[in-house]
Amino acid sequence: MRNTVCSGLAALLLLGSFTFVSPTQDPEVPYPEGYRMWTHIKTGLIGPANPGFRFNGGYHHIYANATAMQGYNTGYFPKGSVLVFDVLDAKEQNGNTTEAGRNHVDVMVRDSVKYASTGGWGYEEFKGDSHTERLLTTAVKGQCFNCHAQQSDHVFSEFRK
Ligand code: HEC
Repeated sequence: MRNTVCSGLAALLLLGSFTFVSPTQDPEVPYPEGYRMWTHIKTGLIGPANPGFRFNGGYHHIYANATAMQGYNTGYFPKGSVLVFDVLDAKEQNGNTTEAGRNHVDVMVRDSVKYASTGGWGYEEFKGDSHTERLLTTAVKGQCFNCHAQQSDHVFSEFRK
């Protein structure tokens, strides 16, 4: 009887420690401070005829930090690579289309250990100009990953010289 209680307790403790150790969520992707000073990779413009307009309509500018530039050059993005997809609304007046407010900032961070569950890239989206308001659930991060995983090293864009 005493033994049963003991092993029951031991099992509970073991279970407890496993729950404590096992990661319930990937670590947070930090806001990419200063990315406007990084290398500009390219710009795209998504119009109302595109199915992606609802989420990514307007301009998107892609930026890479110095580590990620190695990835554009070699095809392999090292740990610490950060890529930014900066989405700004577009407004038209007299045939002149210009940038309007920032809609959101998408981020990808390379760390094969921290973000193993999404192929070695961490995904996040920050609302508008906010550095703290995060928009992605684990399920949506999975959608980012599923689409990006179709590309070599999970990156779509190429550096335009
Ligand atoms: C249906 C496919 C698809 C989904 C889903 C998707 N992306 Fe992308 N993403 C793209 C494409 C295509 C580009 C390149 C756009 C261009 O070249 O103008 C891109 C570019 C990017 C870039 C710049 C690096 C690169 O790969 O060129 C980042 C950062 C990014 N996406 C983050 C995200 C995040 C965060 C999510 C989830 C909220 C997400 N993406 C969901 C297709 C997708």
